[in-house]
Amino acid sequence: MRDDHGIVTVGVCGAGTMGAGIAQVCATSGFSVVLYDAFPEVLPKARARIEQDTDRLVERGRLDPETRARALRELRTTAALEELAGCDLVVEAAPEDLALKKDLFAKLAAVAPGALLATNTSSLSVAELAAATPDPRRVAGLHFFNPAPLMALVEVVRAPQTAEEVIERLVAFARALGKTPIVAKDSPGFVVNRVNRPFYSEGLRLVGEGVVDCATVDRAAREAGGFRMGPFELMDLVGIDVGYAVAQSFYQAFFGEPRFRPHPLQREMVLAGRLGRKTGRGFYDYDPPAPPPPPLPLPAPHPGPYAVAGRTALARELCARLREGGFHVVELDGPPDRPLEVAAAFEAEVEDREGKREVVTALDRHLPAEAALLVACTNASAAECATWTAHPQRVAGYITLPPLQDRKLLEWTAHEQTSLDPAGYLAALGLPLLRVGDTPGGVFPRLLAALVNEAAFAVSEGVATPHDVDLGMRLGLNHPHGPFAWAERVGLRAVAGVLEGLREYYGDERYRLAPVLRRARWLGRWPHS
Ligand SMILES: NC(=O)c1ccc[n+]([C@@H]2O[C@H](COP(=O)([O-])OP(=O)(O)OC[C@H]3O[C@@H](n4cnc5c(N)ncnc54)[C@H](O)[C@@H]3O)[C@@H](O)[C@H]2O)c1
Repeated sequence: MRDDHGIVTVGVCGAGTMGAGIAQVCATSGFSVVLYDAFPEVLPKARARIEQDTDRLVERGRLDPETRARALRELRTTAALEELAGCDLVVEAAPEDLALKKDLFAKLAAVAPGALLATNTSSLSVAELAAATPDPRRVAGLHFFNPAPLMALVEVVRAPQTAEEVIERLVAFARALGKTPIVAKDSPGFVVNRVNRPFYSEGLRLVGEGVVDCATVDRAAREAGGFRMGPFELMDLVGIDVGYAVAQSFYQAFFGEPRFRPHPLQREMVLAGRLGRKTGRGFYDYDPPAPPPPPLPLPAPHPGPYAVAGRTALARELCARLREGGFHVVELDGPPDRPLEVAAAFEAEVEDREGKREVVTALDRHLPAEAALLVACTNASAAECATWTAHPQRVAGYITLPPLQDRKLLEWTAHEQTSLDPAGYLAALGLPLLRVGDTPGGVFPRLLAALVNEAAFAVSEGVATPHDVDLGMRLGLNHPHGPFAWAERVGLRAVAGVLEGLREYYGDERYRLAPVLRRARWLGRWPHS
């Protein structure tokens, strides 16, 4: 097989989890493969795994038997590094150890002088590995995801020394494997592992601050956000020790940037030996497993009528949804200037904190004394909103982002002085209710806004294009949308509003807007689109 990548024979160095998977996908895609491992006893196990895995693919009709037979014929295993001599490309998948990999790259460059050399490293500097060879122009990263035969994404990583032609050939090669390549700059975590950092770190902060428990974060992530798994379920799966080490390495690599600060909760879990599924206990118990969470309440809705105030997409959606539910709605596109004869008012000024204060104050002034004032707590806490009113006891918060059709639950909150029960009013929106602590952004909006912000920082730093970031997050992590497309779907100003609310509340630099997101907020769209 020969294509514009000019690759016929692929060497794979390291026959562990990733190496065996990469060898398999190369062989079933028509390449001749030489699979090398420094430990000969690993090789029969790797071959047996590939035989079993491809057998299963044939059984399921996902691989035809001739292709399998050919692939197994064209796959050679060896414990002699010299046998990689004839390869056009060598993909290195040895253990994540800088000294070991540098040594290996120097040897590979000597054994296969004409070959492209690619590393599957997740966290080491490709530039540093390239520098260990006499011709660093032909060294790049080729970062597969686990399991390599199944995951569609490959990150092609460009080190400062890498020749453009090498990137182009590796992109073509990844396509020949049936994968979707994205191009990433050689930088910590490349695209996917970096942009997803806040998914974990904001989850940890929410729990560490006592805002919610792990199960509530995970539930909101799944049922409000549409993520396959919540951050704590994922951390337990990956291993909390692994996650903690990765968090520390990011923090170091970014010289103490507050967005990457690890969380003491991770260290506490590691010290206690609660490492996740592999130790039977992490954030959750697995031995025996915790029962599934009970269904969320959806109480009988209060008959209304309702007022909705705000100049936002959220306000328009709330009105539409309440009307669909048969409720009478008074729609206000700004602060009211006359008395409102309603049972409850939803404030929905999620884009502009100045405007929000005006709307909340005016609603409080014009609502009947017994009516509920439901404030949107994406960009302010309920407690802060209550300070803008003369009746703090009737103020409670709801926390969501449009479009509501994407949400399977509604987060809500109350503050220390709330004395009314807002559940019946909130139930008019037709979504089961999940109570969270009183901070701006609740759970899902905070996770999403932090992901979008990290994506915006990464793009500003030239890590990848917005298009490739979106592809990477969908294909590498099964996120329902890429962060750039997601922010547009939700509303860029509302996403920026969450970060502004968090920045104001915590005074923490980690919530400062990425310059690209700040510009997007002014423009109302991403600068690149
Ligand atoms: N496991 C994952 O989910 C994952 C995902 C993406 C990238 N990666 C990266 O892929 C690489 C390999 O990870 P893995 O999970 O397959 O590890 P692994 O421990 O399963 O496999 C490593 C293999 O390398 C062999 N080896 C050790 N020293 C060697 C040497 N000097 N030369 C050649 N082979 C040697 C080992 O015998 C072993 O078979 C790492 O850089 C890792 O960061 C892993």
